Amino acid sequence: MDLTIVHTIQELQQLLNERRKQGVSVGFVPTMGFLHEGHLSLVEQARQKNDVIVMSIFVNPAQFGPGEDFEAYPRDTERDARLAAEAGVHILFMPTPEEMYPQEGGIRILPGPQSAELCGASRPGHFDGVLKVVLKLFNIVDPDRSYFGMKDAQQLAIIETFVRDFNLRTEIVRVPTVREQDGLAKSSRNVHLTETERLEAPAIQQALRLGASLVAEGVSANDIEQQVSKAIVTNSSGSIDYVSLLAYPELKKVDADSKEIIIACAVKFSKTRLIDNIIIPLKG
Ligand code: PAJ
Repeated sequence: MDLTIVHTIQELQQLLNERRKQGVSVGFVPTMGFLHEGHLSLVEQARQKNDVIVMSIFVNPAQFGPGEDFEAYPRDTERDARLAAEAGVHILFMPTPEEMYPQEGGIRILPGPQSAELCGASRPGHFDGVLKVVLKLFNIVDPDRSYFGMKDAQQLAIIETFVRDFNLRTEIVRVPTVREQDGLAKSSRNVHLTETERLEAPAIQQALRLGASLVAEGVSANDIEQQVSKAIVTNSSGSIDYVSLLAYPELKKVDADSKEIIIACAVKFSKTRLIDNIIIPLKG
C-alpha cells in the first residue's frame, strides 16, 4: 500500500471508510511534523499491530501560547512525506488550521490536576490545546490504537487519563524515547540549538541519570531536584525552566502507593526550550 496524502477531513474519512469495509485495524500517530526517528519509532510500533497506519502532521496553534514558537516551529512537509512513506505510513493527514478550526464555538476541554505541574505550569493553556486537537483527531480518524512517545511523558499521562475518564474508544500505546548517540532526546526543536548548545545538550540526560542514581540512594526529592538543576547549569549554558520529581503517571508528590517516579525537566537555550525525563520504577 503506497502513501496517500490527504488535506481534508472528508477525503480522509472516505479513504478510511473504504478500508474499514475490509475489516482492517487502524493505528494512529499524531505529530506536528519535522519528523525524526522518535516519530518514526511510533510508526514502527504501530505497524506491528495495525493494518492501516494513519499519521497526522499539524502544527496545532491551540497548544502554543502567546510569545511561544508557533511561527518558528520547524516545518518541511516534502521531507516529512518522504520519511513517512519510507517508514510505512499509509495515510498522511495534513490539514490546514482552517480545516481543523473552521469556527470557534468557545467550548473548552480542561485537563485535570496532572496539568498543574511541569509544562502545564510553565505553559498555561498548553494541555487544553493538546486535548482539544487530540480529541478532534481521535474523532476524525477513529483509530483502534494511538501511539504516543514517553519523551512527552506529561502529555502521555494526561491523554491516558482523558481516554479512560471519557471512555474514548482508542487504546493508547506508550513508546520509549528515542535518543541521539550522545543521549540527547530526539526532538524537532533540536535544529534550533547552536553548535555549542548542541554539544552541551546531552548534559540534560546525564543530569537526569544522576537524579535516578540519587533516588536509588534515598536522597530527598528536593535535594535531587536541586542537584539535577545544578548539574545542568554547570555543564551547559541552558537555564532551568523546571526540574521536578513526581509520581508517574499521577504527577503528584511521591507517596507509599507510587509505582514509578518521573524526574522531568525543561531547559531553555538561546533559541529553543528542550524537555526530557527519566522514569524510575519503585520496588515493592
Ligand atoms: P510532536 O512533538 O510532533 O510529537 C509527536 C509524537 O512523537 C508525540 O507522541 C511525542 O511524544 C513523540 N516523540 C517526539 N520525540 C520523540 C522521541 N525522541 N522518542 C519517542 N517519541 C517521540 O506531541 C506532539 O507533537 C503534539 O503535542 C501532538 C500530540 C501531535 C498534538 O498536537
